[in-house]
Amino acid sequence: MKHLLSIEELTAGQITALLDDAVRLKAERGRHEQPLAGQTWAMIFTKSSTRTRVSFEVGVRELGGFPMFLSKNDIQLGRGEPIKDTARVLGRMVHGCIIRTFAQQDVVDFAHYSGIPTINALTDDEHPCQILADLLTVKEALGGWEGKKIAFIGDGFSNMTISWMWAAKRLGFELAVAAPAAYQPPAEFLAKLDAPNVTVTADPAVAAKGAHVINTDVWLSMGQEDQQEKEEAFGPFQVNAGLLADAAEGHIVLHCLPAYRGKEITEEVLEKHADVIFQEAENRLHAQKAVLVALAKR
Ligand code: CP
Ligand code: NVA
Repeated sequence: MKHLLSIEELTAGQITALLDDAVRLKAERGRHEQPLAGQTWAMIFTKSSTRTRVSFEVGVRELGGFPMFLSKNDIQLGRGEPIKDTARVLGRMVHGCIIRTFAQQDVVDFAHYSGIPTINALTDDEHPCQILADLLTVKEALGGWEGKKIAFIGDGFSNMTISWMWAAKRLGFELAVAAPAAYQPPAEFLAKLDAPNVTVTADPAVAAKGAHVINTDVWLSMGQEDQQEKEEAFGPFQVNAGLLADAAEGHIVLHCLPAYRGKEITEEVLEKHADVIFQEAENRLHAQKAVLVALAKR
């Protein structure tokens, strides 16, 4: 593994190896190796972040490295310097880069032009670090995903859903995506995914019925804040007590956060499942440390 640009490009073996190492690093926190000793890792963020920024800054430090946070307004990227030039400069100075931005192509280009390990910290197309943390949480809470039904209720073609669909393709678990018709994955994407274990419905009750994991996310992702008309389609897709009534016994609820209570999830459901949801947030740290260790070893 040279970079982490998407879940799509990972194999099942790579995903399970990362999760096994995340379990180890979590257990050995404060006592494990420091493979980033003497290294500087840049963190280019062109969108807001709480969990991703903090978990990467802490993770790089715990592995012995120095995280250098660069918001787009701190660097010339924000004034239009091309990503390929930014990449060729940083590639000569730092040891790795973590990027949160809009276009997936920018992350791909950064990896190509910099030649240094590059991690996708969220683009419009994928949020691979979050899905690794979510899978770690499923593993801890339910013992794994084999034989489990996972539901995703909300935007059917966001970075989160796309990464979940690739995870289902690679790992083979049942994934039911419920989204309004206009926000479902397009036919070309589903043809490329070619995963009979991934189903798409416009009925959230169908997806939630018998589900062991119910997952949701904001209706308006970063950059879509002015698309109020989009939000209007999502009313029936709220994760609330009624929707969860037919979920499997012992089900868990996941939310990558930040959560908008009263929109995609109710206060009642979020607080009832807060232990697992904040365990999921903490797992960002452990899953990403496993990614950093894997990239440092290459
Ligand atoms: N879930 C997640 O990526 O959170 P942040 O936007 O706060 O980093
Ligand atoms: N889909 C959301 C995820 C936030 C962590 C967004 O892109 O804003």
